Amino acid sequence: MKSTFLNAINQCNEEHIPVWFMRQAGRYLPEYMELKDKHSFKTRTHTPDLMTEISLQPLRRYPLDAAIMFSDILTPLEFMGAEFDFSSGGPKLQNAGESTLRNIQPLNTDDMAFVYEGIGKIKEQIGEKPLIGFVGAPFTLASYIVEGGTSKEFSKVKHFLFSNEKEFSKAMQTLASSVGHYLKAQMQAGVDAVQIFDSWVGFLNQDMYEKHILPHMQELIGIAREGGKPIILYSQPSSHLLTSFAKLQTDAISIDWRVRLDEVAETLDKVGYKGSFQGNLDPVATTLNWEDAKFYVEDVLSRAKKANILNRYIFNVGHGVIPTTKFETIEKIVEHVHSFRN
Ligand code: CP3
Repeated sequence: MKSTFLNAINQCNEEHIPVWFMRQAGRYLPEYMELKDKHSFKTRTHTPDLMTEISLQPLRRYPLDAAIMFSDILTPLEFMGAEFDFSSGGPKLQNAGESTLRNIQPLNTDDMAFVYEGIGKIKEQIGEKPLIGFVGAPFTLASYIVEGGTSKEFSKVKHFLFSNEKEFSKAMQTLASSVGHYLKAQMQAGVDAVQIFDSWVGFLNQDMYEKHILPHMQELIGIAREGGKPIILYSQPSSHLLTSFAKLQTDAISIDWRVRLDEVAETLDKVGYKGSFQGNLDPVATTLNWEDAKFYVEDVLSRAKKANILNRYIFNVGHGVIPTTKFETIEKIVEHVHSFRN
């Protein structure tokens, strides 16, 4: 396989350091803004041709090493009894709360046929470049269902877990099995790797994570493994959970920007982690002019070098790029990362 991205996931990349950006599809490109004005978020995520166009837009501009399909972690929830409205900025759930989570239904993965069709179309047009599929992890999905949107403290979802472990676990089981099968179906439809987004699980401490979340993550990953494609785990801010993440034996872990990459590599090495690393750039660096952004890019690259992980490192941001990301800076970052090793 000639893909530097897949080679890095397989810990054997000898060529340039691969780079892609979380949330590279959508948000900051002018050509995306045009489509955003014309079509609702629901139309953009449910129409295979629009999904294809938006996924490919960043690859037309930059020599990125992977595409990520344009969709959302909340999209499957509409078929499970929790349909989010995206029309006013952040996602909102009308009937949010514990009872909606308690009544969450298993996903019939056939309901996601429009996504598989989009994956097929992207693969037809993308050439040799790998395509990344994704899901939200059970705790992060549960937090959206109970809180109704993004939250500051995640106190409602944590209240449910702390006060009713049994019922919480039952809902987590449904979510884990549903997204596990959905990942497997994405793999069968043609994605080359997947990423599991557990954006908010860092609001739990490590004991709670190991007791109440880890078993469901193992279940999810066990099902997805049947699809045979590499799995990346993403979470932030969650450096206190990294040694627990290592137990999941994913092919790669995406690291946020709050920690030093070389120190993380050392910590994970000590607990026997054998996988690859991704991420670590503060997304705010992408909003700077290149002259100012360079320092932050160099810092991440030099730490990857110091940790001796260049053959198993994928450059990325520590969380998604933001609407104020400068597309000229993204171009320079890609150029710089690609030339670092040569
Ligand atoms: O480019 C890509 O990465 C692919 C598409 C993608 C989207 N959302 C499109 C989107 C991916 C991978 C996601 C993941 C996602 N969605 C996460 C996990 C990553 C993270 O940020 O922690 C989460 C928590 C969500 C939930 C979600 N969806 C939020 C909080 C929001 C609104 C706020 C925001 O970040 O803009 C969305 C809407 C959303 N999903 C947009 C896009 C491009 C913006 C809405 C729009 O363009 O109309």
